[in-house]
Amino acid sequence: MLQSELQHPPFDIEPAKLPAHIAIIMDGNGRWAQAQGKSRTYGHRMGAAAVRDIVTECAQLGVKALTLYSFSTENWAREQTEVNFLMDLYVEYLIAERQTMLDNNIQFRQLGSAEGLPDDVLAELNKTIEMTCSNTGMTLALALNYGSRAEITGAVKAIAEQVASGELKVEDITENSISERLYTAGLPDPDLLIRTAGEMRISNYLLWQISYAEFYVSECCWPDFDVAQLHEALRAYAARKRKFGCVPDHSVDDQS
Ligand code: IPE
Ligand code: IPE
Ligand code: MG
Repeated sequence: MLQSELQHPPFDIEPAKLPAHIAIIMDGNGRWAQAQGKSRTYGHRMGAAAVRDIVTECAQLGVKALTLYSFSTENWAREQTEVNFLMDLYVEYLIAERQTMLDNNIQFRQLGSAEGLPDDVLAELNKTIEMTCSNTGMTLALALNYGSRAEITGAVKAIAEQVASGELKVEDITENSISERLYTAGLPDPDLLIRTAGEMRISNYLLWQISYAEFYVSECCWPDFDVAQLHEALRAYAARKRKFGCVPDHSVDDQS
């Protein structure tokens, strides 16, 4: 066996056992950098560099949607220099990665608000959305200036306005009425939610959409999260038994 095969065993999960939608909380850039005596901004730069392999691998595996949490509405509270650096990095990332998206038939979209984002970030977001809009492969959704509570509040307001204007009846409001007014409209709910850097929390991410997602926490900080780590998460997911509130094996232990 080749050394590379020992390090990265061949991927052996059947397509039916792969998640249709993977959501990732890319955390730990700061800690990763700090551990090597480097600045937090260096950690963000290396974090951005780690994104390409994961995106490409998901697209090639046939995953339908990949949702990456890159900046929360709460992250505006960080030091201004860090926020400015991140905004410049999004511009750089979008320009550099458009070709990868085109090469892999990826459709790009943003999850989050435009409000407060610098003009150059908005311009590159829009350009990337336009350039990839006719692609038919994986959807890459970048959660940038995203907050789940704000997203749900927006959906509730939109519904309330339609009820007030007589366009929508209260009795016609369904769970779908909420889903279709979220940034994720049209995407399947995440099947697998991965968080890196060991934290066991959601941090205001996709609260509505992850109702039945399987949660996988990796100790690895985001800049170190590579294809081998992704495969490990996918193996763990394939071994989970999803129940959605049912008792699938009730005949086995129903002895009465
Ligand atoms: C995630 O890494 C990136 C963003 C939130 C922008 P962090 O910057 O949160 O890294 P830690 O959690 O401080 O290590
Ligand atoms: C969540 O990470 C947001 C992103 C990864 C973009 P944070 O680092 O902001 O979350 P907390 O502060 O640890 O909850
Ligand atoms: Mg963090």
